[in-house]
Amino acid sequence: MRVLEIDHPLVAHKLTVLRDATTHSSVFRQLADELVTLLAYEATRQVRVGDVEISTPVTEMTGTKLTNPKPMVVPILRAGLGMLDGLTRLLPTAEVGFLGMVRNEETLEVTTYANRLPEDLTGRQCFVLDPMLATGHTLIAAVEYLTERGASDVTCVTLLCAPEGLAAMEAAVDPEIDLTIVTASIDEKLNEKGYIVPGLGDAGDRLFGVV
Ligand code: URA
Repeated sequence: MRVLEIDHPLVAHKLTVLRDATTHSSVFRQLADELVTLLAYEATRQVRVGDVEISTPVTEMTGTKLTNPKPMVVPILRAGLGMLDGLTRLLPTAEVGFLGMVRNEETLEVTTYANRLPEDLTGRQCFVLDPMLATGHTLIAAVEYLTERGASDVTCVTLLCAPEGLAAMEAAVDPEIDLTIVTASIDEKLNEKGYIVPGLGDAGDRLFGVV
């Protein structure tokens, strides 16, 4: 498992505004979107491309284009939806599948309540979107779900990670699986309620309101 914590002044700036409890949800949504686009630039470094022959107005040349099958982007409902536009802005030809997962706030266990994904993901590169890697339970379940269907490599794009969640993922996910975690910050710890500290609170609520 590779973990990339992106060190960039714009990432740090936008993340600080997101963390601020006084930031209104309209600004939060906008900044989360911009932040994901910055993270997506790094997350797509290993996206599969191949040579293509093209003609410029001046000459023939060999260029580079995304190959088939196109990547699959998988936002985890609900908070991952707030990251979808930020990623597909850079990968507009990717397909989008959905996984609905919810954690029980008392036991912190995760259940899958919805999915809209191809049964066969053989050889697909998948980009999973979930803003908070806290206990790691949701992303462990998502990575298992995708790799059981044949996904060849999985990149999880998160805004924040807790060290405990990263350790849980490292222990739970088959080391043969090509797994990358991209994040704006590895924070200090999880608190007793399973929130990331210092964190930014409940990402779904901050994006979409308390419903
Ligand atoms: N999910 C959130 O939205 N926030 C946290 O801090 C942890 C999990």
